[in-house]
Amino acid sequence: MAIPILKGTIQVPGDKSISHRSIIFGAIAEGQTTVKNFLRSNDCLATLEAFRQMGIHIEENGNNLTIDGVGLLGLQASSKPLDMQNSGTSTRLLAGLLAGQHFDSQLIGDASLSKRPMGRVIDPLSEMNGILLAEDGHLPMTIHGEVLHGIHYRMPIASAQVKSAIILAALTAQSETTIEEPLPSRDHSETMLKFFSPESIEKTGQTITIHPGHPLQGQQIEVPADISSAAFFLVAGAILPGSKITIEKVGLNPTRDGIVRILQQMGADLTIDRIDQPGEPMANLTIKAGPLEPFHIEAADIPALVDEVPALALLATAAEGVSTISGAEELRVKESDRLAVITSELGKLGADIEEKPDGLLITGGKPLRVQNPDLDSFGDHRIAMTLKIASLLVDKPVTIKDDDCMAVSYPAFVNDLTTLIKE
Ligand code: S3P
Repeated sequence: MAIPILKGTIQVPGDKSISHRSIIFGAIAEGQTTVKNFLRSNDCLATLEAFRQMGIHIEENGNNLTIDGVGLLGLQASSKPLDMQNSGTSTRLLAGLLAGQHFDSQLIGDASLSKRPMGRVIDPLSEMNGILLAEDGHLPMTIHGEVLHGIHYRMPIASAQVKSAIILAALTAQSETTIEEPLPSRDHSETMLKFFSPESIEKTGQTITIHPGHPLQGQQIEVPADISSAAFFLVAGAILPGSKITIEKVGLNPTRDGIVRILQQMGADLTIDRIDQPGEPMANLTIKAGPLEPFHIEAADIPALVDEVPALALLATAAEGVSTISGAEELRVKESDRLAVITSELGKLGADIEEKPDGLLITGGKPLRVQNPDLDSFGDHRIAMTLKIASLLVDKPVTIKDDDCMAVSYPAFVNDLTTLIKE
């Protein structure tokens, strides 16, 4: 099997985190919100469906949405449980928002989501007087809407989902809330809230203050392309010899652009063409294949590249020498235990990866060779896409179990990849 060359220009779909938030903030605002380039993937559609069940009128026109906001306390109880499917973001953000509503809700999810820890949102929301019942801290979860009060919360982990859950709850609370993060996690909720209601939020250093009682006003949102989806093409373009790919209008929020810094650290041939416009920063990115140095990723780097670790592990197999990832224990509670799964599945392709309790040690530079062609995504979209790229590099065909999970964040991934394959 010859290694293909990837060439061309591509637009990857809209950012998953921003798409979720566009519906949530649009629904609780007053007036209409329009969303351009919404990500129509399973995760974001789970959020969309949940808000429809709570009485929100959302019009869909291709990738564009119009949302009729009902104000902070205008949602209605759903007659059936809200199915979060595979989406941790939907679950945790909705837990925060629903804790302070005037009705009760039930959140359910698929097998993978039902194994993921919810105590991290239940704890701070309970301190705010929220009543969230989940056996062992896992879905299904029953939320009894309550009158909440503000808290001062020092987050034990850097998690944008937890931070956003508290922000959404705090908007409905009776007093001010302050949140301190150990490290900066993605700040899309803060940025969006600042647009919808500048009086509601203040940020000083690592401390966020939420002032409740201010209405949100509907906005026009353009969702940038998802850097976490672009990551697979950045990695493919960097390691498939002779490749050159341009990815357009990629969101380059500094709390998300860790992969760009790592590519630069590795000496990759990456050109960043910034687009000058208000709102979330965007750029056209062009990657060309070339020699790569190993990277070193530490705890402080993780939040800005947390979803890119599987793709980065594959990238490291192409860099001569030892790359290291540490402080990444959060990877064990994502859609799969990503540290274990990436070690076992790339190992089947001959990658030299040592799993550590909090990271990976990857010795790269040797071509990958199939040792076992039966790969398993473990139902994890980012693992499936990483393995799909890896499959282009190897000498024999492989199969990837449950690869339809790619639809969680990127339904057209295989199609888009195919359009770039030139040989
Ligand atoms: C997300 C935050 C991250 C990320 C997830 C999306 C968000 O999770 O892994 O895919 O939209 O807030 P944590 O903040 O819990 O690490």
